[in-house]
Amino acid sequence: MAPTRSLPNIVITGTPGVGKTTLCEALAQKTGLHHLNINDVVKKHSIGEASTDPEDPNTKIVDEDRLLDVIENDLEDGGQLIDWHACDLFPPSQIDLVAVLRCDNKVLYDRLKARGYGEKKLQENLDCEIMEVLVQEAREAFDGDTVVELRGEGMGDLDGNVGRIEEWVRNWRKDNGKEEGGVEAKGEGGGKGKAGKDEDNPLFLHG
Ligand SMILES: Nc1ncnc2c1ncn2[C@@H]1O[C@H](COP(=O)(O)OP(=O)(O)OP(=O)(O)O)[C@@H](O)[C@H]1O
Ligand SMILES: [Mg+2]
Repeated sequence: MAPTRSLPNIVITGTPGVGKTTLCEALAQKTGLHHLNINDVVKKHSIGEASTDPEDPNTKIVDEDRLLDVIENDLEDGGQLIDWHACDLFPPSQIDLVAVLRCDNKVLYDRLKARGYGEKKLQENLDCEIMEVLVQEAREAFDGDTVVELRGEGMGDLDGNVGRIEEWVRNWRKDNGKEEGGVEAKGEGGGKGKAGKDEDNPLFLHG
């Protein structure tokens, strides 16, 4: 059955520093989808408790149930670009695509160093990227069709990712009978539900 939302919900996830916010901002500008930055939501609704780690006092432990309550209506509305370094808390029925951004460790090291991260936090994040923690989390929580990996090292990657996701959104709308000015697909013969497996799907051409 085709979802009721007329625009898809997309999670952009990955290790801190891989470029999630940069990609979401560019995508929001290009597609008009709403950038739902979970860092901002956590701050606005005070749903993060400060970590007790003295080396990492700025990290927040987030109350996931409260977070889901706060964003429930946004997810129902659809058209959200969800920017967060975790993904398995989001209900699969409300998520149409999970893009895991990946970044070369040398590049990531320089980005995190430039942020002034201490050695321990830096190493933890680099380990997270090397061990593919977010890719595994995504693949365990969502259908194979829903998860894609994207590179996030340079500006060429950024432009390419924006173009590919933009095209994926267009395909999703077509597949789910949500095209502008089109008749919404209802019941039998309606959308396929996921714009995932088609050979011409821009996100699956390059593995
Ligand atoms: N494709 C890219 N090419 C070059 N630089 C990039 C690219 N993507 C991000 N950056 C740079 O990398 C740094 C980290 O990016 P960004 O803040 O978007 O990461 P993030 O994944 O949102 O991090 P966090 O998880 O901490 O919120 C920024 O300085 C940004 O300008
Ligand atoms: Mg960010």
